[in-house]
Amino acid sequence: MIPSSPIRTTQADTSPGLIDLAIGHPSPSLLPLEIIRRAAEHRLGTDFTPYLQYGYEQGDGYFRHTLAEFLSRHYDMPVSADRLFISGGVSQALDLLCTLYTKPGDTVFVEEPTYFLALRIFRDHRLHLVSVPTDDQGLVVEAVEEKLKSVRPVFLYTIPTHQNPSGATLPLERRRRLVELSRDRRFLILADEVYHLLTYEGQAPPPLADFLSEGTVLSLGSFSKILAPGLRLGWVQASARLLKPLLECGMLDSGGGLNPFASALARSAIELGLQDAHLEELRGEYGKRLEAMKSAVKKHLSGRVEFSPPRGGFFFWLRMLGASDSAVLLAAAKRKKTCFVPGSAFSGTGQLKDRLRLSFSYHPAETLEAGVKRLAESLSGIQPTG
Ligand SMILES: Cc1ncc(COP(=O)(O)O)c(C=O)c1O
Repeated sequence: MIPSSPIRTTQADTSPGLIDLAIGHPSPSLLPLEIIRRAAEHRLGTDFTPYLQYGYEQGDGYFRHTLAEFLSRHYDMPVSADRLFISGGVSQALDLLCTLYTKPGDTVFVEEPTYFLALRIFRDHRLHLVSVPTDDQGLVVEAVEEKLKSVRPVFLYTIPTHQNPSGATLPLERRRRLVELSRDRRFLILADEVYHLLTYEGQAPPPLADFLSEGTVLSLGSFSKILAPGLRLGWVQASARLLKPLLECGMLDSGGGLNPFASALARSAIELGLQDAHLEELRGEYGKRLEAMKSAVKKHLSGRVEFSPPRGGFFFWLRMLGASDSAVLLAAAKRKKTCFVPGSAFSGTGQLKDRLRLSFSYHPAETLEAGVKRLAESLSGIQPTG
């Protein structure tokens, strides 16, 4: 049967001619088809097929060992398979942790700005969001301390490295202080470390996963940005005590561990050295795209925006000088066939209207330059350039 409307397969709008700088997905040209083919051949080539069965609740033990070895190398710290829980990606893990650790009306702290879709998950759970300010080094820990005088959250959600949207990375000293606070004042830290392995310049501080022994940190990771989001595969790293509610939950008792088949493919990708090689390739290519976007913003938007260039991740976070509302700019940008995410989407309180987030992950370098040029033209259309 011929469908009456176009068949949608991916989240991204792929309208012809559109240069979508809103989209924070991996580049289609960097999706690892050949790696998945080789991993599948490797894994499906034997008669040992536990990945076709309901899986162990914590996640396949072989995969957790392989993942622990991979993370130990890349995090440069010992990671134990016992401390890993396999998730369906960070989004799924956040949702499950909200289900198990919170009830409607509970307070949670979020960064201002923060990942806008995490806000949506927290709102689904009817949580009371308290926004904590950040600066160009990420979360302002004194501000957390200040807020704690009036309210204690169940958890604080943070993206410590190459934050979405700001690109900021929390320095080691602030990481230490934050974890100390969480221990002394008894709240959990949900650390979304999804961009930690995507550092293109310099070296990131150790992940918050390095502080598990304090007993308050749950570190969330994902294969979405380093392999393929379609696998829906990630992990939660935490102390045995914090993992316990996950392992005992009804959803896993009924359905078994999450994504055993995707786990089996990722295990082969790691064991065959393909994941390491892919990560190297991604760092090289995304690093080039970051540079291309930086040059394009300097060339086309100089004097009209200010920003701190990121050193990893997927995003540039711009502040418009002299123009107040990026939602107005977005309407003009769409007419020029480009778009971005307006700053207010990343605010727990609807602020940040003078900000906008551009992504450099999805499009190749030349297209990024053309997109930024269109954006500059749109900006000229809505404000006098002086
Ligand atoms: C900060 C952050 N967390 C989580 C996600 C989604 O992760 P996953 O695909 O593992 O659910 C994204 C994707 O853009 C992200 O930027």
